[in-house]
Amino acid sequence: MTELQTFQSKYGPWALVTGAARGLGAEFARQIAARGINLVIVDMLADELAQVGIEIQNHTGREIITVVTDLSQSRFINTIRERTEGLEIGLLVSNAAFGPVGLFLDKSLDDKQKMVAVNVQAPLILVHEFASIMETRKRGGIILLSSASALRGSAYVSNYAATKAYNLILAEGLWYELREHGIDVLGFMPGITSTPAFEQSKPNLERLMKVVPIMEAGPTVVEALEALGKRPSHIAGRMNRFNMFMSSKLMPRKTAVKLVGNQMRDLYG
Ligand SMILES: NC(=O)c1ccc[n+]([C@@H]2O[C@H](COP(=O)([O-])OP(=O)(O)OC[C@H]3O[C@@H](n4cnc5c(N)ncnc54)[C@H](OP(=O)(O)O)[C@@H]3O)[C@@H](O)[C@H]2O)c1
Repeated sequence: MTELQTFQSKYGPWALVTGAARGLGAEFARQIAARGINLVIVDMLADELAQVGIEIQNHTGREIITVVTDLSQSRFINTIRERTEGLEIGLLVSNAAFGPVGLFLDKSLDDKQKMVAVNVQAPLILVHEFASIMETRKRGGIILLSSASALRGSAYVSNYAATKAYNLILAEGLWYELREHGIDVLGFMPGITSTPAFEQSKPNLERLMKVVPIMEAGPTVVEALEALGKRPSHIAGRMNRFNMFMSSKLMPRKTAVKLVGNQMRDLYG
């Protein structure tokens, strides 16, 4: 079997990608469809989602189903269940996230709770739903989007980073538990990637580019799809992996937390 055929037989014939109207989610959708898998794409942004769906359908000829729903409401799963009935979802990419940058005390409790609902509760519900179905088929793949900010406390995104740690730790545990059922799980940490969410966060770009590289969505997603099935978690970008190695293995945790805090203050303070 070629690599492509193996990918299709392990993770096809349908994939479900959340937060697919733009950014990394749209890119996951494009690349998965280009590998010959049909898509259920989910987002709140109806028009942008429809556009992405049409673009991918025209480009790849795959079947695309769009589901407009708000993942902060736990009943979203009923909508997804209805729209996916009878479809074999072999790949779940839990990508949508809510994570405005700012000091903890400047954000409302509603914002903080919404972050937990979208970034923690929704992935949990999705994994529960689809891993159970994949288990009966003895095959499948699950990618949970985490972030390098999950590796230690990260000022200015404290709550967001904590929600991303949940995804990383859940993915790594499930990588072990589910592999005996033929299900590959990956906790994926993009580096800083040029997406609408990143642009909206308005960092000081001049300072940022001195500290870390800014990646494009295409190569970031290639890394995720290549790492699936090979390891429990993966950080995109060689320089990001090097930086994370330095700060997590060679620095006391307190130093690493301070370093990140200082960098975030420079970028967003
Ligand atoms: N870009 C980076 O530098 C970076 C770095 C590390 C990790 N990540 C992770 O990568 C993933 C994708 O990030 P991105 O930068 O591509 O984000 P993005 O540009 O904001 O795209 C995320 C998509 O998810 C949607 N979404 C958010 N909340 C939703 C909800 N309640 N229900 C349904 N859809 C919702 C967004 O819609 P709205 O625009 O309406 O909110 C948006 O279309 C996230 O999990 C993020 O934490 C990104």
